[in-house]
Amino acid sequence: MTRKVTKAIFPVAGLGTRFLPATKSVPKEIMTLVDRPLIQYAIDEARAAGIEEFVFITSRGKSALSDYFDDSPILEAELERKNKPELLEALRRTNMESGQIAYVRQARARGLGHAVACARRLVHDEPFAVILPDDVIAADTPCLQQMVEAYAETGGSMVAAMEVAPEKTSSYGILDVEDAGKQTMKVRAMVEKPAAEDAPSNLAVIGRYILSPRVMQNLNGLDAGAGGEIQLTDAIAGEIDGGEGVHGYRFEGQRYDCGSKAGFLQATVAFGLARPDLRDELAAFIAELNLSQGQS
Ligand code: UTP
Repeated sequence: MTRKVTKAIFPVAGLGTRFLPATKSVPKEIMTLVDRPLIQYAIDEARAAGIEEFVFITSRGKSALSDYFDDSPILEAELERKNKPELLEALRRTNMESGQIAYVRQARARGLGHAVACARRLVHDEPFAVILPDDVIAADTPCLQQMVEAYAETGGSMVAAMEVAPEKTSSYGILDVEDAGKQTMKVRAMVEKPAAEDAPSNLAVIGRYILSPRVMQNLNGLDAGAGGEIQLTDAIAGEIDGGEGVHGYRFEGQRYDCGSKAGFLQATVAFGLARPDLRDELAAFIAELNLSQGQS
């Protein structure tokens, strides 16, 4: 019997340099996809997967993020006075119960592995999820929920995996797996950001994980790896031989890399087109753009 996953870590302490100058004062995770900040998509996905405790790894300049989850009584009273029940409901859905959220500061951006390790005192001997809010996944069944269901069968640790173009392997952790065609694959090795010619496959790890508490222990013992950062991949890889095992899970859904400008724009268009209230106007605009580009 695997233990239920009820805690999730959201590392949001990165500098977000790819979105400068916007991220000079706006945390990347607060940037909006249609009308919701990235972090809201991540929270909704976690809730759907049964997560009850939310741990944010934050840093200097991210106070907008912690403010976002507070109740907003003045705004709520105003919407009530103006009789706007739909907006009021949308607002209330973002409220988080006091005590459900914890914020841990990462004093310096020392990499994803270090960010996760900052939550060690809040995650004891239980498995935990890690969600990177930059990776937004559109799916009928939310990605983490799919993983929680698969994890109930495997235990150990699990990473979300998807195929990427061979020239992109150098941007991801890449898996070497048994039973490559299956949805749940046993991992033989993990390589951080290999060049195309050194990559064992084109199966990339993206920002959803369910990790054994042993990974937290491994992180504590690690020195800086590739790029001078403490790598989460290294700590997970420590579980492959002699540990509880690692599985890659091919999730169903479309992932958008909202940590990159092109990915964010693609997600904006896709999520806009998926919204009944926006679809027609947006589709007409895109068709018009195509037409005028075809003529030039
Ligand atoms: P990224 O590699 O996307 O880095 O981090 P970044 O700083 O957010 O963005 P760029 O590359 O400078 O534009 C992946 C995730 O890990 C978190 C980030 O907040 C993001 O959610 N992270 C990264 C930390 O919490 N701490 C770190 O030290 C590094």
